[in-house]
Amino acid sequence: MNQYPFQMHFDFTEEQLMIRQAARDFAQHELKPGVIERDEHQKFPAEQIKKLGELGFLGIMVSPEYGGSGMDAVSYVLAMEELSKIDASASVVVSVNNSLVCYGLEHFGSEEQKRKYLVPLASGQVIGAFCLSEPEAGSDATSQHTTAIDMGDHYLLNGTKNWITNGGNASTYLVIAQTHPEKKHHGINVLIVEKGMEGFTIGPKENKLGIRGSDTHSLMFSDVKVPKENRIGEDGFGFKFAMKTLEGGRIGIAAQALGIASGAYELALEYSKQRKAFGKSIADLQAIQFKLADMATEIEAARLLCIKAAWLKDQGLPYAQASSMAKLYASEVAMRTTVEAVQIHGGYGFVKEYHVERMMRDAKITQIYEGTSEIQRIVISREVLK
Ligand code: CAA
Repeated sequence: MNQYPFQMHFDFTEEQLMIRQAARDFAQHELKPGVIERDEHQKFPAEQIKKLGELGFLGIMVSPEYGGSGMDAVSYVLAMEELSKIDASASVVVSVNNSLVCYGLEHFGSEEQKRKYLVPLASGQVIGAFCLSEPEAGSDATSQHTTAIDMGDHYLLNGTKNWITNGGNASTYLVIAQTHPEKKHHGINVLIVEKGMEGFTIGPKENKLGIRGSDTHSLMFSDVKVPKENRIGEDGFGFKFAMKTLEGGRIGIAAQALGIASGAYELALEYSKQRKAFGKSIADLQAIQFKLADMATEIEAARLLCIKAAWLKDQGLPYAQASSMAKLYASEVAMRTTVEAVQIHGGYGFVKEYHVERMMRDAKITQIYEGTSEIQRIVISREVLK
């Protein structure tokens, strides 16, 4: 039975191929130099992000009317894979800015909010952060302790957000907070908070296992006055906003995981042809060939899931299940592939110069952020059991 009223094509348009090539070139020439040092010293790729912004990668899917590149979600997946093959710390900035911040503002923001906040974000003049997680509300996102009390012309924001990507370098923060606790998730709002608002402080940078170049912080809000016009959507729309936005965000993280996997696979493939053992290339050994075959097959399956989720989004069809399937599978493939890539490299895989140990560390977060693998299984099982 054909589940979709459209035919899926397996060929890309010229525009899609162009953006893939541009991302590939950028990754090779601008991200690769210094990627090991940035990881080691936890250095945010500020210069590289500025250039990505100038090239239109921070607002790939945003309409040109609001400063974006006006491309589709399939192009976004292709770009995310290429950037993530080389530097997942840089690509997560691209993903959060595009999928969570720009998407949320473009689709649910008012005209004034789009002019004021979306244009600089989509054109890469500034970057944004999406602030949902809390010390006690990671997977259980309905349980928000941050409060936004309605004071008439403004909200009074109080609370703490944890593990916020772009936390230190962002200028615009979309903060999810509880306004009417008695209404549970129907009482949650999303507010646009600017860096520098009185009472808003940024905690120290987290010292992480992977994506160490990315900028992860706790954020503290103490009686921050947020103007009423900074609320996105109707009163109580915040939880739906977060869920709708994360649906697309999961496509971005799936493509990031895919990129980490395919980057590690390409390095392992190349290494296996060069490395000699027992009088021949290790690529001539069946033990290595079988690993490469499994890696290639799983990566191709992950790629198809990512493209399918993006394609559904581009067609205006439901994609919550597809994006969770893509994220669940691609992140598990990223983990398996990077572990095998280290194994194929042997001792060299365990040292930084060969990149694969970083990729193995970076892969882990793709099973955690924007919903753990367990959360994706909840979303998928609810859809299949409907
Ligand atoms: N679109 C629209 N509405 C949705 C929705 C969707 N995709 N998913 C759920 N909702 C709505 C439901 O319809 C329901 O509304 P009603 O009560 O009006 O019917 C409401 O939201 C609550 O839904 P559930 O009853 O399903 O809520 P739940 O508590 O059982 O679970 C969950 C929902 C899927 C587990 C959700 O809490 C979730 O996704 N958790 C994970 C959160 C997450 O991904 N956090 C990551 C933080 S962001 C991040 O990581 C960014 C970064 O730094 C890179």
